[in-house]
Amino acid sequence: MPKIGEIVIREAVDADWNGIWPFFRRIVADGETYCWPTDLPEDRARREWMELPGGVVLVALDGSGAIVGTAVIHPNREGGGDHVANASFMVDPSRAGAGIGRALGEAVLSRAAADGYRSMQFNAVVESNAGAVRLWRSLGFQILTTVPEAFRHPRDGYVGLHIMWRRLGESR
Ligand SMILES: CC(C)(COP(=O)(O)OP(=O)(O)OC[C@H]1O[C@@H](n2cnc3c(N)ncnc32)[C@H](O)[C@@H]1OP(=O)(O)O)[C@@H](O)C(=O)NCCC(=O)NCCS
Repeated sequence: MPKIGEIVIREAVDADWNGIWPFFRRIVADGETYCWPTDLPEDRARREWMELPGGVVLVALDGSGAIVGTAVIHPNREGGGDHVANASFMVDPSRAGAGIGRALGEAVLSRAAADGYRSMQFNAVVESNAGAVRLWRSLGFQILTTVPEAFRHPRDGYVGLHIMWRRLGESR
C-alpha cells in the first residue's frame, strides 16, 4: 500500500462513495474537466466511477482518514482492446497542489502494470486543463493527437481534447 507523506492510497470499498461524492460533484459541476453534464445525478456518478466493468477504484486518505482523492482504472475497450487501461482522477479541490494527484497517478500506473495492462490511454484530457496535462506528461504520457474544439469550456470556449497514452508493460 503506497504511503506518501500523510497520504495513504488503498483500494476503495463501497462505503467510500460518501467521502468521494462531495468533491466529485463539485468537480463535475465546474464543467471544466469532464465530459459529463454539470448536474450529473449521484446514482449515475456512482455507477460511472464505482461500478465500471473490470474497474478498480483507488482512494487517497489524509492523516485523519478523510478521502481527499480518487482514481479508477478500467479496460479502455472490451474484447480485443481490453489490454489497454483507461484511468480517471479526481482530487478534492480544497487539497489541490499538495501532491495527491501525482501520488494517485503513480499508484494507478503501478497497479495497472501489476494487473497486466500493456498501456494506458486517456481519451479526453481537456487541453486547457494545464495542471493535468503537465502531470500526465511528467508521468510519461504523450499527446497522440488533439481533437480540435471537442470540448466546450464554460470560460475558455471551444478547446481541444487530448488523447494521451503511455506504454506500461508487455504481459497482455
Ligand atoms: C488534475 C488533478 C488530478 C491534479 O491533482 P493535484 O493533487 O492537484 O496535483 P499535484 O499536487 O499532485 O500536482 C502534480 C503536478 O501537477 C501540475 N499541476 C498541478 N496543478 C497545476 C496547476 N494549477 N497549474 C500547472 N500545473 C499544475 C504540476 O506539474 C505538479 O507538478 P509537481 O508535482 O512537480 O509540483 C486535480 O487537480 C483534479 O482532480 N482536477 C479536477 C479533475 C481533473 O482534472 N481530473 C483529471 C482529468 S484528465
